[in-house]
Amino acid sequence: MVVERSASIEALLEERRRFPVPEEFGKRANVRDPGIYKRAARNPEAFWARVAQELHWFKKWDRVLEWNPPFAKWFLGGKLNVSYNCLDRHLDTPRKNKAAIIWEGEPGDDRVLTYQDLHREVCRFANALKSLGVKKGDRVTIYLPMIPELPIAMLACARIGAPHSVVFGGFSAESLRDRINDSQAKILITSDGGYRRGTIVPLKRSADEAVQGAPSVEKVVVVRRVGDKSGATMQEGRDLWWHELVQGQPLTCPPEEMDSEDMLYILYTSGTTGKPKGVVHTTAGYLVGTYATTRWVFDLKEEDTYWCTADIGWVTGHSYIVYGPLASGAASIMYEGAPDFPDRDRFWAIIEKYRVNVFYTAPTAIRTFMRWGEEYPKRHDLSSLRLLGTVGEPINPEAWVWYWKHIGGERCPVVDTWWQTETGMILISPLPGLTTLKPGSATFPLPGIEADVVDEQGNSVPLGGGGYLVITRPWPAMLRTIYGDPDRYVKQYWSRYPNLYFTGDGAKRDEEGYFWLLGRVDDVIKVSAHRLSTMEIESALVDHSAVAESAVIGKADEVKGEAIVAFVTLKNGVNQSPELINELKQHVVRKIGAIARPEQIIFTAELPKTRSGKIMRRLLRDVAEGRALGDTTTLADPAVVQALKDKYGEEGEA
Ligand code: WTA
Repeated sequence: MVVERSASIEALLEERRRFPVPEEFGKRANVRDPGIYKRAARNPEAFWARVAQELHWFKKWDRVLEWNPPFAKWFLGGKLNVSYNCLDRHLDTPRKNKAAIIWEGEPGDDRVLTYQDLHREVCRFANALKSLGVKKGDRVTIYLPMIPELPIAMLACARIGAPHSVVFGGFSAESLRDRINDSQAKILITSDGGYRRGTIVPLKRSADEAVQGAPSVEKVVVVRRVGDKSGATMQEGRDLWWHELVQGQPLTCPPEEMDSEDMLYILYTSGTTGKPKGVVHTTAGYLVGTYATTRWVFDLKEEDTYWCTADIGWVTGHSYIVYGPLASGAASIMYEGAPDFPDRDRFWAIIEKYRVNVFYTAPTAIRTFMRWGEEYPKRHDLSSLRLLGTVGEPINPEAWVWYWKHIGGERCPVVDTWWQTETGMILISPLPGLTTLKPGSATFPLPGIEADVVDEQGNSVPLGGGGYLVITRPWPAMLRTIYGDPDRYVKQYWSRYPNLYFTGDGAKRDEEGYFWLLGRVDDVIKVSAHRLSTMEIESALVDHSAVAESAVIGKADEVKGEAIVAFVTLKNGVNQSPELINELKQHVVRKIGAIARPEQIIFTAELPKTRSGKIMRRLLRDVAEGRALGDTTTLADPAVVQALKDKYGEEGEA
């Protein structure tokens, strides 16, 4: 059953504080009518259709939903274009010259693109892609830092109907290569480099390495972000500079009329196996879902400046930096760098500089800010803020209240938004003008969304109880499949319980029906809100010649949420040493990326396994977190665990 893992989760469930909607906020909120929940529940299809009508369609849909569990189709027969909805739709309105993207580079350079500017740049790049032979349906991989060319490239792909696959710039060459090969992308878009804490990240070098093993790639388009000091080299005939490629391209590009169910993008995410899976999102449902939730949850007003601090390489950036905000005509900040460069007040300086009104970040960032201390936010005027949000992992009440008090000045509602790469859109979240908040609870499923907490057998658990979080009705932005692997889609999400979407999260509902998310119940871990798979890290470790076997767990961590701990057995004749520990950590960084670097590596002669040979990660977590050992009766050799525990104190490396 769901394991309540850490002290912070215990604290979460004992939380009793309540934060009603501030009166002024409630009066002006986009969603003020509590009847919205009932209306949506009574007729979800009519409800979503009403939202969809606010968007632009070349041809209206014939049918809102076709549900052949577990395959859903939304807005069947409709024709539309996502880039048209994010750009052209605003150009005949006063939004034409409104800032769409307000970009700040880490070194302090900045760039503002109005809707008209963004439209032009997207069209030019869309034409450039066409000139390279990219056609509707061709996949394009994008491996860029947080610079304006990233959303421009995504929207250009959407404009011509080429699904994009954005790979987070922190992933290694090898991770990039695997993702390119899985999607068989024809084009790779990258940059010479990027900035991170003042140093240069050599993206082009990783891209070169990746492409060596990725024969599908015909051309590499390179944005010049850093210049000569990047050390990037160009390969004649294969590599093209972005700025040269767009020269002379027409300023407009007719949008491809896409079918509602045509693929918009693939985004790779970690699952319960060693290999990341390509989550597929399609056109209409995804757009409707992200558009609606942006307006409801972030309460965006025409005059607001909105900032989501995620990297666009993750789903949060796809849905709530690019598609949702632009479809809503929002003015949105995009920041390239780290929160502590040049100093630990960078985020607060940005909020003051641009008078940010709505701010969306991850609990792990908030806990880091707490640790750094209040002096940093105090240096800045944060009075423009009116709404705060969090995403990516459970937020402990202490961090929630700190955020509310020290960032929100005790006047801004905090929306804790639960969702996943697979859900595409926020599913569980307060409506800031309606919901009384409880710190640590994502509160309720949004209107039109139906969720439940079930036990092992799939029976609904009465209020007050805990179990597995499931979604009981299809929603517009749901993933449609796993790219190239429909069986895995069915198996992963729809096989545990018939017709219920299995989220992989544990949850409890309190007596008032509030949802409290308790973290993953599978082998997925969230490290500083980044999603990783324990199996993926294990595969990276056993790839090293010294390693015989490994087991990776997420250990509760006050700041990161979870920290990566790897138990490793070495091959015969290999000696343990601090150098080897460093080498193994480096090996994981090379294989996956710096985000997967294990915090601890613990050598052990054996790993605890069940009689059927399965590694008992729960026990390893108990060992790593210093808890009394749980039930070991199914263990093949219970002595293994005790030996590990005895040893851990001496050899566990901090
Ligand atoms: C976790 C991120 C608690 C959860 C958008 C989920 C959360 C996983 C919350 C998906 C939240 C996300 N409270 N847990 N508000 N938001 N999670 O795909 O475990 O990177 O299954 O999507 O993050 O991670 P992903």
